[in-house]
Amino acid sequence: MSTPPREAVRELLSEKTIARRVSELAARISADYAGREVIVIGILKGSWIFLADLVRLMTVPVVIDFMTVSSYGTSTRTSGVVKIVTDLKCPLEGRDVLLVEDILDSGLTMRYLLDNLRRRGPRSLRVCVLMDKPARRKVEIRPDYVGFEVPDEFVVGYGTDYAERFRHLPFIGCLENREGEGDDAR
Ligand code: PRP
Repeated sequence: MSTPPREAVRELLSEKTIARRVSELAARISADYAGREVIVIGILKGSWIFLADLVRLMTVPVVIDFMTVSSYGTSTRTSGVVKIVTDLKCPLEGRDVLLVEDILDSGLTMRYLLDNLRRRGPRSLRVCVLMDKPARRKVEIRPDYVGFEVPDEFVVGYGTDYAERFRHLPFIGCLENREGEGDDAR
């Protein structure tokens, strides 16, 4: 597979638009968790840039931890069978937990994560996603905080990738003219 050129990425959400929305989300989250400490869990790799920007604007105390997950299989990233590659270091029992994801697509990864994390006994468990793509949903998931609703196109940038490329772009764009377009249009 060859790497598409950067010109193949059409801007969908500008750096400024993202910054404004992330700041709004941080303000809302900080108000909702006032007086409490939040365990912010980032799901790698896609969430890293969003999480870094979000937590720096939050005004409540935070503890940050990460999980790396991957789908089993080859072309089945939406199979819903998720493998934990790297687990959390933090115990969650009795804690207020905020799960941070870059994108909610079929919802299968999130459903697995919520089931898994609930079993660890947190006091509360909420979900914050930068992008929600409801057109692709296979299971009902209602995130507590959503940055943007996005169309059913393959998005890259600001942490999200196409074959590990484009994560570093400061904006979010749609990748046009992909080779071998399949069911994993994110
Ligand atoms: C993306 C995203 C979610 C998942 C959402 O991760 O970060 O974890 O897909 O898809 P779903 O709602 O259909 O389950 P991806 O597998 O692209 O890995 P990455 O975070 O390393 O980019």
